[in-house]
Amino acid sequence: MSFENKKILITGGSSGIGKAIVSELYRRGARQFAVMGRDLKKMQALGSEFPEAKFFYLPGDVAKSEVIEKAIGKLRKEWGGLDILINNAGVVSAGALEEISDEDIIAQQNTNITGPILLTKHALPLLRQSSDAAIMNVSSGLGLIGMAFYAPYAASKAALRQFSEALRRELIGQGIHVMTVYPTATDTPMMKTANTTGMDTPEQVANRAVDGLVNREIDVIMGGERMLKNRKLNFEDPLQLDEILKANYEAMAKRASGHRSM
Ligand SMILES: NC(=O)c1ccc[n+]([C@@H]2O[C@H](COP(=O)([O-])OP(=O)(O)OC[C@H]3O[C@@H](n4cnc5c(N)ncnc54)[C@H](OP(=O)(O)O)[C@@H]3O)[C@@H](O)[C@H]2O)c1
Repeated sequence: MSFENKKILITGGSSGIGKAIVSELYRRGARQFAVMGRDLKKMQALGSEFPEAKFFYLPGDVAKSEVIEKAIGKLRKEWGGLDILINNAGVVSAGALEEISDEDIIAQQNTNITGPILLTKHALPLLRQSSDAAIMNVSSGLGLIGMAFYAPYAASKAALRQFSEALRRELIGQGIHVMTVYPTATDTPMMKTANTTGMDTPEQVANRAVDGLVNREIDVIMGGERMLKNRKLNFEDPLQLDEILKANYEAMAKRASGHRSM
């Protein structure tokens, strides 16, 4: 896949994994980006790092349908089509379920799953104009294996996984590749309050994600052997995985209680 003339729309391209994906695509020849995010200044700062690329800023909250309709309208007018949609923007608010505010529970679902579904729906007519289209959804390892103290976040990310799978089957044979990326703990602003060590870098995730896009993979799963082993165990004997995870219960509770990036 050549990225040279590709028109790319990415949500949350101004920070962390999204920013690293922009950088990786730029390194591989991409020069046209539309970026959606709430903070215009952060998007302008991103654009200034890549002076040879054309950036189209779409400020607004991806969870709001009117923002999405307006953004897609602008893209239709400016570009007339779209080659790659990357649903990357996401938020997290962790902790014991009873301690998470209703607002944070609702916002996680709105941003992490409802927004991507609506954006994909409205972007599809533009993607159909492309001869080589793709949709990349950035889920999470927690969308594959549910972990204590991340219940609303895990629910939103598992929903994104299932959305990807269903849509891939719905679009079969229509020239639009649908893939999902599952990062595990990655060193980005989202993790500032997570108190975790041994994380991937956003560049590692971006490199694997873009390789996956080029190779038409359907799932890019980070976390190495440990993730593969835990997924197998979670499928074959989930109660045994419960027992293993129980050993870290207190530490996980403590770590998650302060983890919020909204
Ligand atoms: N970091 C990890 O350990 C990790 C692990 C697994 C999965 N993930 C997933 O990877 C994706 C990227 O995460 P990250 O770690 O790179 O996070 P990040 O550094 O906090 O960046 C999040 C990006 O999303 C944008 N965003 C957030 N809410 C938005 C909204 N309502 N509307 C529009 N844009 C919004 C932010 O821009 P504004 O603030 O300007 O809106 C920002 O550009 C997320 O979906 C996350 O759930 C991350």
